[in-house]
Amino acid sequence: MKTIAYKAFGNTSVLQTTEESIPSIQPDQVLIKVSAVSINPLDWKIRKGEMKLMSGSRFPKHTGTDFSGIIEETGSSVSGFKKGDEVFGVVKNNMKEGALAEYVAVPASLIWKKPAQITLNQAAAIPTAGAAAVTALGKMGNIDSSTRVLVNGAAGGFGMFLLQLLKAKGANVTAVTSTAGTEYAQEWGADAVIDYRNENPLTLGARYDIVIDLSGKLGYQNAKQLLNARGIYLDPVPRPIDIITTPIKNLFRSRKHITLITAPSQENIGTLLQAVENGLQIHVSKVFSFSQTQAAYAYAEKGGYIGKIAIDLTTQKA
Ligand SMILES: NC(=O)c1ccc[n+]([C@@H]2O[C@H](COP(=O)([O-])OP(=O)(O)OC[C@H]3O[C@@H](n4cnc5c(N)ncnc54)[C@H](OP(=O)(O)O)[C@@H]3O)[C@@H](O)[C@H]2O)c1
Repeated sequence: MKTIAYKAFGNTSVLQTTEESIPSIQPDQVLIKVSAVSINPLDWKIRKGEMKLMSGSRFPKHTGTDFSGIIEETGSSVSGFKKGDEVFGVVKNNMKEGALAEYVAVPASLIWKKPAQITLNQAAAIPTAGAAAVTALGKMGNIDSSTRVLVNGAAGGFGMFLLQLLKAKGANVTAVTSTAGTEYAQEWGADAVIDYRNENPLTLGARYDIVIDLSGKLGYQNAKQLLNARGIYLDPVPRPIDIITTPIKNLFRSRKHITLITAPSQENIGTLLQAVENGLQIHVSKVFSFSQTQAAYAYAEKGGYIGKIAIDLTTQKA
C-alpha cells in the first residue's frame, strides 16, 4: 500500500510516498481503508522535531492523526462494527504512527460511525480539534449568557467547533480572527468579532471571564490583561514548563492559567456526535489529493485557512 513517511525532521519536502505492506490487525483492532485525513498543527510540530521528547528520533515516521474510511476487516474480539461501515477515528499513537496511508489498523475503541448527514471529509475533520473543543468547554465550568469568553484564533479547526459549542451554551463570545475568518466566526455563533490584522484585542479595554488562545501567541501575561478578577486563561498550546509550574503559580494568583492537553475519547466524541445531530457545521475549506500531500501541508502551515483542510485519498484531483 502507499503511505506517507519521512526519514528526517524537516519541512514538507521530507514527506515522501513509500510502499509498505498492509498492516495486519490484532483481535481488538480494525483495518480501515482510509478515505480522508484532516490536517492538524500537531502533525507538523511532530514532523519538524518540536515534539522530539515524545516522538523520539527514530525513523521512518508517519504522519496524520485524524482519518475517516471504510472498515475492511475486524479483529476477532471487535463488536459493534462490521466490514463496509463508514467510520472516522484517530491513530493510537500519533508520535509513532500516521493515518496518511491507504490502510490503517487501529483499536476499535478509537473509531466512531460516521453520521449520515456529513461527508467522509467532514468526518475526518472531527477528532482532534473537536475533542479539544469539548474538553476546553468542560474546563470553562458553568457557562451561561452572562459568561464573556474571548476565543483568540477562532477561525481554524479548534475554533470552529468551540464557537458552536459555546453558542449552544448561550455564552457571550468574542472571536479574534484574521479578516477572512470574521464572517465564519459570526456564522458559528460569535457575538462580536475582532479582526486581529486591524485591531489589537489588548488595547480595546474589554474584559472577559475566560480567554482561550488557539493561536499560541498570546501568553499568560497578555491574557491576564484581558481577564476579569477570577477569570481563567485556557492554554491549549502550553510550553512544557507551563504544564509543570502553572498549578503551583495558580495557588498565588486570582487569574488562573489552565493548560489543556486533550485526546479524543468516547465521551468527547459522543458530545460531538450529538452536536452533529443538532446541526453542528463542519467546514472543510480545502481538499487535496494524496499525491498533493506536500502541497496540502505547505498550504496549512502558511495559515490563513478557515476551519479544516483534508487530504482525500479517493481522488487524484484537488
Ligand atoms: N492541547 C491540546 O490537546 C490540543 C488539541 C488540539 C489542538 N491544539 C492546538 O491548538 C491550536 C489551535 O488548533 P487549530 O487546529 O485550531 O489550529 P489552526 O487551525 O491553525 O488555528 C489557529 C488559528 O490561530 C489564528 N491566528 C494566528 N495568529 C494569530 C494572532 N496573532 N491572533 C489571533 N489569531 C491568530 C490563525 O488564523 P490565520 O491562519 O488566519 O492567521 C488560525 O485560524 C494549535 O496550536 C493546536 O496544535 C491543542
